[in-house]
Amino acid sequence: MVDQLQNKIFKIISNIVDDNNIESYVIGGFVRDILLKRDSKDIDVVVVGSGISIAKQVAKKVGNLKVSVFKTFGTAMFKYNDVEVEFVGARKESYNRNSRKPTVENGTLKDDQERRDFTINALAISLNNKTYGKLIDPFGGINDLENKIIKTPLDSDITFSDDPLRMLRAIRFATQLDFTIEEKTFNSIVRNKDRINIISKERIVDELNKIVMSTNPSYGFRLLDKSGLLKIIFPELYELKGVEIIDGLAHKENFDHTVKVLDNLCRTTDDLWLRWAAIFHDIAKTRTKKFITGQGWTFHAHEFVGAKMVPKVFNRMKLPMNEKMKFVQKMVLLHLRPINLAQEKVTDSAVRRLLFDAGNDIDKLMLLAEADITSNNRAKVSKFMNNFALVRRKLKEVEEKDNIRNWKSPISGELIISTFKISPSKTVGIIKDSIKDAILDGEIENNYESAYNFMLKKGSELGLSDTKGYCEKF
Ligand code: CTP
Repeated sequence: MVDQLQNKIFKIISNIVDDNNIESYVIGGFVRDILLKRDSKDIDVVVVGSGISIAKQVAKKVGNLKVSVFKTFGTAMFKYNDVEVEFVGARKESYNRNSRKPTVENGTLKDDQERRDFTINALAISLNNKTYGKLIDPFGGINDLENKIIKTPLDSDITFSDDPLRMLRAIRFATQLDFTIEEKTFNSIVRNKDRINIISKERIVDELNKIVMSTNPSYGFRLLDKSGLLKIIFPELYELKGVEIIDGLAHKENFDHTVKVLDNLCRTTDDLWLRWAAIFHDIAKTRTKKFITGQGWTFHAHEFVGAKMVPKVFNRMKLPMNEKMKFVQKMVLLHLRPINLAQEKVTDSAVRRLLFDAGNDIDKLMLLAEADITSNNRAKVSKFMNNFALVRRKLKEVEEKDNIRNWKSPISGELIISTFKISPSKTVGIIKDSIKDAILDGEIENNYESAYNFMLKKGSELGLSDTKGYCEKF
């Protein structure tokens, strides 16, 4: 164990706590992560005595570092070479049932370990010289690490009642580490799920983001569902569950499909917001579903209804209401476009329109569309993938030729107004749109001259006359 305490800060702490004649341990996530051989960054140190006083002495010794002190929690921390080192006095702690504000009393190391969330997060390594590197594991954390188990050190009802966010943390750690939640611990989540309501939306979203950024987030979302938490924190996603059968025809199980799409996408992108777009892409399917005799199940306009839902759900969940939300909304709105295109003949004009609407997000949209293919029918999947490859090739060609990605009309509204001596009006918009359509449909080239001629033609169809005379413009 000593080998793993590479950071020279540990030796400094060791000498100082010995001088003060008190016990000290490195504890929690840092210890868990070195044992799992994961990158561990922030260091938590527990001191059986005043954490604040030791923090100050250590910070002084390593180079007069600035210490932030949180008196009410009895903690202090400083940054040492980019690593946050936090000191806390060992505590006995109990939380008020209706808030997260703990009442704190001094305690022993064991008191401190048992009030932590999971056995794997309650491991401590001694920093005192005499016992330096010794692992203290009163709750079988090592065993649980080996057997890949998430389990609370105390009766789970107490641990989760102390801080209900831990129910989500259990699912988050299980997902990140590919661990199983011990049955009793899981049953306690099921029993205590409603207590999640006292936790702030921001903290919930932090955990959800960590689930979304895992390698297989579907595992986490299935656990959220199974525990009953999903229905409380994300009812719109929960709504996608279930299959209806009419006339012997069943539709897709849309929750299952959604989490599969999310997993698929995780193979090709680390972009958190594109991953959120996968979660939202079919969010309106239940709301739009209809059975039409002769046609079967339809989900007409689910991309439009879904895009409308995005800001509402983001707002309620306290996901960011900024360009990230707009991006997710855009992806939801456009998610069917590449697949629809791939099903038809892939024409230049359809590709140009797709590029025009997606702009710089086209590559992300293509990744989402590819991830959306979850069919078990191999022939079908390979057909779609080939068509997508064709769409990608065409996108490249069109892009090289036409410069549509960040398209700006070669003709301004001002020019239309001055050419036809008309006032700003709907007609200006009609002419501008017709120019855009003509360019996207490949009817005219994407340049000033072609667009100008087209504008004159369109104007004359609308009964307007060119007051400047054609020649003036060239
Ligand atoms: N902890 C806890 N209950 C919480 C949050 C944290 O018992 N609700 C304890 C755990 O012992 C945890 C330690 O505090 O290991 C540090 O918490 P934190 O930094 O949030 O988590 P880590 O375990 O370090 O993991 P991560 O950095 O992935 O969040």
